[in-house]
Amino acid sequence: MRLVANSGRGVLPPCPGPSGVRDFHRQLPGYAPTPLREAPRIAARAGVGRVLVKDEADRLGLPAFKVLGASWAVYRALLDHLGVPLGLSFDALAARLAGRGLVLTTATDGNHGRAVAHVARRLGLAAHIFVPAGTSPARIEAIEGEGASCQVVAGDYDDAVAVAATAGAGGIVVSDTSWPGYETIPGYVIEGYATILDEVEEAIDAGVEDAVGGGVDTVLVPIGVGALAAAVAQWFRCRGREVRLIGVEPDGAHCALASIEAGGIVEVPGPHTSIMAGLNCGRPSPVAWPWLSGGFNLFTAIDDEHAEAGMRALAAEGTVSGETGAAAAGALLAFGGEALGLAPDATVLVLSTEGATDPRLYAEIVGT
Ligand SMILES: Cc1ncc(COP(=O)(O)O)c(C=O)c1O
Repeated sequence: MRLVANSGRGVLPPCPGPSGVRDFHRQLPGYAPTPLREAPRIAARAGVGRVLVKDEADRLGLPAFKVLGASWAVYRALLDHLGVPLGLSFDALAARLAGRGLVLTTATDGNHGRAVAHVARRLGLAAHIFVPAGTSPARIEAIEGEGASCQVVAGDYDDAVAVAATAGAGGIVVSDTSWPGYETIPGYVIEGYATILDEVEEAIDAGVEDAVGGGVDTVLVPIGVGALAAAVAQWFRCRGREVRLIGVEPDGAHCALASIEAGGIVEVPGPHTSIMAGLNCGRPSPVAWPWLSGGFNLFTAIDDEHAEAGMRALAAEGTVSGETGAAAAGALLAFGGEALGLAPDATVLVLSTEGATDPRLYAEIVGT
């Protein structure tokens, strides 16, 4: 368990203009804002005023937030590919793609690949998804259940990314992490996640604010390659809000924490074996990195037992959250508000980023 303050926050990149992503998500069948719930018992245990949990267990029919980034990135990448300007509806895009035989590919440790496969299926496209060795059968079945082909790569997530990066012939790589020369699509993924924050603000404006006395002042975010964290930093920092931003990683795959300590991107070598599968990443995404180093106040690393405790605590408050999804709640409980620099009356937003994505493991840990 580790905690590192980002004392000399770096310079933020230029803020992007409005993307129209929320309107894009609104037109997708099955779109609805996910719940924002109070978690009074977690707040009491952590010694903070209030905890709000954004519950991403059911997002556009999938059990994780990732489809927000995947859907927007696939849409934008396909418009770019066809040379069509923004504005075409998702259905009209599907019609334009008929018969073209395009294949979408990506690497994943579960949720992103499943989301890309799901969006490909909605568009009538094929998908080929690379996963690292050791990916649980439940996660592979879920990807194949979306009609995609799934290939296991010898090695870890970063090895799977390297294979996917060169496998684009005849297809389009829709990766959530970036590398030199491949930055545009991972940037779209980050943009796509803004819908979560837009919904949180909307819920607060609609009345939760009265209950919490003035809105959120701290956000805990799980970090894998850092795309979600970059979206959070973009949202608050580009609106000039000095909200305290705290990143959470597994001990052993704490690539953002290690990079902050090193003063630039470094790799945390594998094997990465945490049950927080979505966070088993050895390198932060270069596109996300400046938002993390310039926007986050604190980076933490927790053990699997803390994620498990987070799962149980969230379950007791009515939120089903998987091993990765519960990392933020787990960190809040593991360190407690004081060690995280939070005032006793702080209002903390916890992103619970997935539901029971591996149902067997969830049942083993939570007991339901
Ligand atoms: C459920 C869940 N939460 C959080 C993350 C971390 O997101 P990012 O890789 O953008 O940092 C992932 C990544 O796969 C995930 O699956």
